Amino acid sequence: MSDEDAADRGVADHGVAKGGMAEREIRPGTALDLEIMAELHEASFPEDPWHTQVLARLLAMPGSLALLSEDRGRPAGFILMSRTLETCEILTLAVAPAARRQGRGTGLLGSALRLCAAAGAERCLLEVAVDNPTALRLYAAAGFTEAGRRTSYYQRNGKYWIDALVLARNLIAD
Ligand SMILES: CC(C)(COP(=O)(O)OP(=O)(O)OC[C@H]1O[C@@H](n2cnc3c(N)ncnc32)[C@H](O)[C@@H]1OP(=O)(O)O)[C@@H](O)C(=O)NCCC(=O)NCCS
Repeated sequence: MSDEDAADRGVADHGVAKGGMAEREIRPGTALDLEIMAELHEASFPEDPWHTQVLARLLAMPGSLALLSEDRGRPAGFILMSRTLETCEILTLAVAPAARRQGRGTGLLGSALRLCAAAGAERCLLEVAVDNPTALRLYAAAGFTEAGRRTSYYQRNGKYWIDALVLARNLIAD
C-alpha cells in the first residue's frame, strides 16, 4: 500500500514510522518461509514455539498476512496478522535476538497495519503477556491502548499462569 493509498483512506499513523531502513527490507511471507518463521518464533517464544504445521494453518486462513524483515537478504523477523471484516489481529511478532532494537519490530508492525487498513480493517487487536515490558513499550509507542485483560492466559515455566492484556488501536484517522 502506498502512502497515497493510506492518505486516501485516512489511515491513522500514530507513532508507526514509515519508510525507515528496516521497513524497506520488508517483504511478504509465503509457505516457502514456514521453516524460518518457525525458527524465529522458537527463538522468541521458547516456552511455546509454533511449529511449521501451526504456522501453515494460520497462514492459510482467509485474511491472513505474513511479512518478513530481512537483514542482508536473511529473514530476521516476521509478523503474522489475520483480518476479519473491519478487525485485524496480530497473531505473533518476533524478531531474532541479534537483530533487535534496530526498528524491525516497529517496521513490521507499521507495514502490516497499513496493509490491513488498506484491505478494510478499521481497528487492530492483540494479546500480550503482562510480563513482556519490551512488547508493551513497542505497542504503546505504536498507539495501542489497553482494551481488556485475559486472566491466567499464558503459562510460565510449565508451572504458573499469567494474565494477558488485550490492546487495541484504531486504524482510521479521526
Ligand atoms: C518485541 C520485539 C518484537 C521488538 O522487536 P525490535 O525489532 O527490537 O523492536 P524495535 O527495534 O522496533 O523497538 C521498538 C520499541 O520497542 C521497545 N523496545 C524494544 N526492545 C526493547 C528493550 N530491550 N527494552 C526496552 N524497550 C524495548 C522500545 O520502546 C523500542 O523503541 P526505541 O528503540 O525507540 O526505544 C522483540 O523484542 C521480540 O521479538 N521479542 C520476543 C517476542 C515478543 O515479545 N513478541 C511480541 C509479543 S506479541
